Amino acid sequence: MFPAVSMAESRPRVWVSQPLFDDIVGRLAAHFDVRSTGEVTEHSPQAIADALRECAGALITLNERIGAREIAAAASLRAIANVGVGYNNLDVAALTQAGIVATNTPDVLTETTADFGFALLMATARRVTEAERWLREGQWQQWSFSTLLGADLHGSTLGIVGMGRIGQGIARRARGFDMRVLYHNRSRLPDAVEQECGARYAGFDEVFAQADHVVLVLPYSPQVHHLVDAAALAKMKPTATLVNIARGGIVDEIALADALANGRLAAAGLDVYEGEPAVRPELLALRNVVLTPHIASASLATRRAMVSLAVDNLIAALGEGPDAGNPPTPVNPDVLAAATIKTITAKRQGA
Ligand code: DGY
Repeated sequence: MFPAVSMAESRPRVWVSQPLFDDIVGRLAAHFDVRSTGEVTEHSPQAIADALRECAGALITLNERIGAREIAAAASLRAIANVGVGYNNLDVAALTQAGIVATNTPDVLTETTADFGFALLMATARRVTEAERWLREGQWQQWSFSTLLGADLHGSTLGIVGMGRIGQGIARRARGFDMRVLYHNRSRLPDAVEQECGARYAGFDEVFAQADHVVLVLPYSPQVHHLVDAAALAKMKPTATLVNIARGGIVDEIALADALANGRLAAAGLDVYEGEPAVRPELLALRNVVLTPHIASASLATRRAMVSLAVDNLIAALGEGPDAGNPPTPVNPDVLAAATIKTITAKRQGA
């Protein structure tokens, strides 16, 4: 599985789980014995465990789920750098307990992902992909006044659920479209941020009932599994659209397909799916849903920036490079603090 790498064997080993950008990932070779996966691979849990066994660190993507089982035999593992802002593929509690630093890639993808959220919203509300399919299928025999009527964005009410960096980016874009923005979030944002985004805090039910378009941008956790279920969808206007660029598990896809098929919701735009890369046949069969393959952050510049940040994180988390010991974006900084205390104590004790 691993191409031969001519690295000094005494250096810590790191695993790169998928082909990323060679020129960026190549920076790891200055510090580590790098074992790269040559082609896009669906690694089984056992294959991940085997790959991690002798490693000090790993650079992974959302394809790799890592928890207690995968790290059980990885006695030397100290850091996992996830290429992605979302890290629900990691069991952070298990990593923390094992003293393994986990990192993610926030900020560098905010604007690109907000761009895409807005693009998906527009495509969904104005039926762009449905219209193209209709045209390509040869159905455009005559121009008609009522063909493919959609919903306006300008002047409408946008509901954003999850008002972190990406949610705020979408809200700022909505201002340019003269939209009224309601948001729901775990906690209310400071007044100054609300003003900058032109957004008003509202309860979850109010957002769902009032919005003409709802965009989901919240992080996934078991607490929000199927947050958008049949009951939430029933609160929405039948003319409304729902866009999900967060994680598939937040939406009950069967309930969504049912609402879309039965006219209780006008349209949906989905970039993420509960069982991705599998997409439910119930969704594939519908015309009023725009389906994209988890590409919200996929501009070339941003994907490169994500890999670069993940590489920086891994180098620093493993105590190398200019930021040794201080990876820029850890998700469990307590592990770092504990590691630092251990090192200081060991130094004081002359170890
Ligand atoms: C993220 O970063 O979490 C995206 O969903 C992956 O591109």
